[in-house]
Amino acid sequence: MSANIAEMEKRRQAARMGGGQKRIDAQHAKGKLTARERLKVLLDEGSFEEVDMYVEHNCVDFDMPDTVIPGDGVVTGSGTINGRLVYVFSQDFTVFGGSLSERHAQKICKIMDMALKVGAPVIGLNDSGGARIQEGVASLGGYAEVFQRNVLASGVVPQLSLIMGPCAGGAVYSPAMTDFIFMVKDSSYMFVTGPDVVKTVTNEVVTQEELGGAVTHTTKTSVADLALENDIEALLAARDFFDYLPLSNRHDVPERPTSDPYDRLEHSLDTIVPASANQPYDMHEVIRKTVDEGEFFEVQPKHAGNIIVGFGRVEGRTVGIVANQPMVLAGVLDINSSKKAARFVRFCDAFNIPIVTFVDVPGFLPGTAQEHNGIIKHGAKLLFAYAEATVPKITVITRKAYGGAYDVMASKHLRGDLNYAWPTAEIAVMGAKGAVEIIFRGLSAEEQAVKTKEYEDRFANPFVAASKGFVDEVIHPHSTRRRVALGLRKLKTKSLENPWKKHDNIPL
Ligand code: COA
Repeated sequence: MSANIAEMEKRRQAARMGGGQKRIDAQHAKGKLTARERLKVLLDEGSFEEVDMYVEHNCVDFDMPDTVIPGDGVVTGSGTINGRLVYVFSQDFTVFGGSLSERHAQKICKIMDMALKVGAPVIGLNDSGGARIQEGVASLGGYAEVFQRNVLASGVVPQLSLIMGPCAGGAVYSPAMTDFIFMVKDSSYMFVTGPDVVKTVTNEVVTQEELGGAVTHTTKTSVADLALENDIEALLAARDFFDYLPLSNRHDVPERPTSDPYDRLEHSLDTIVPASANQPYDMHEVIRKTVDEGEFFEVQPKHAGNIIVGFGRVEGRTVGIVANQPMVLAGVLDINSSKKAARFVRFCDAFNIPIVTFVDVPGFLPGTAQEHNGIIKHGAKLLFAYAEATVPKITVITRKAYGGAYDVMASKHLRGDLNYAWPTAEIAVMGAKGAVEIIFRGLSAEEQAVKTKEYEDRFANPFVAASKGFVDEVIHPHSTRRRVALGLRKLKTKSLENPWKKHDNIPL
């Protein structure tokens, strides 16, 4: 008996050593943790239960039968984060460069299937040289098996990817189909083809970091949501982030105790909107003063800063926040901000997370660059996302809500449940100056000024919209948190369904 146990321990120990001490040292020398070290940071202490640690590859080509390493380059299993269940896989770069073989893929698929069955999120830690070259099409098949599960799991359980090393070629498409991607600066990259291929095909010279590093993907492409300094930061951020997510679309949002009173008044909000309509203010402040303890987890903070999206809590329960940011491009809606917010709104709706929207939007961004790149189609994404969402929707118009953008930003007409406006709100077809220039052409400067004032007095306020019931109430800015909290309490039992359909046809 003890010999059997000793044998089991010996085998376990062999699996834990992955590709051996030399390769572990090389991983550390690059500033990276190993697959198992990462899971230790990500999961609650002692909670990780590994499966499939003895799985070996089945490749008979080249000299592969002589090089068999238990686990086959990926550590899989389940654990908890602050006591809540999560399924995980962590690619082990010390074993064949973390490359994906048929068996490696089967291990990932097994935990994804379990996560779907029981209703728990999947977190993937990616650090891989891509398809196992020795296996050829078997490994490509493995990728597709994972992709298929990513798609089936989408909207059923939250999926989060951490990119902590190479992720190239077909490998990028599994993370790309997950809900959120965090990347580690300087040690991770994602691209379909690497710098060498790029040079051969297009003659462009580009570094890995420029082509697909964490900064590129969190600023330019929006492929990734957050760029973290190192492995530890990324893993700790993932833990914080996880706390906001429901376990699945069958679960309610998580609740955590809070001592922040629901009716906390924030008098500073009464003066946050500047006297001049052209002067910006920081919408982050409004968000932080509304949510519990000022804690806000922003997603994609470095991309399309004219819209802010992220998670907070109200009375301990997760809410998704979407807000125009007057500090960036005056908070205008453009292609990037529409896409960014649309995907976020859809995530919240899929996982029963109520959406609180703060509106200060001067309209859509004009110009050929926007029109020719399809602002019509991309703007429609956000409109579509809000319109189809059946979760509780609370909207607070702080200042401008002009034109089509008024409609888009969770307006009453898109089944907004509670639509509030501050007294500083201006809800109109467009700004007074532009409106007067169109409807009163050829006026002198003085006449224009008079008409502009008239237009402002008539339309630059929330009361015209309120008189039609498009705004439910004009509220004191200082009571925004109280109003939102009470609204969310009442909307907890909201029940609304869209007509049956196979799926919708959002303008992609
Ligand atoms: N298949 C099989 N083995 C792979 C592999 C793959 N796709 N990618 C890496 N490896 C192995 C290497 O042979 C090496 O093995 P060793 O430790 O026994 O020498 C080990 O993983 C580490 O790779 P190495 O190239 O030394 O690491 P690096 O940090 O210098 O470079 C990569 C990392 C990913 C840039 C590089 O390995 C690479 O280009 N891999 C191939 C990528 C690719 O084309 N994948 C297939 C298409 S999806």
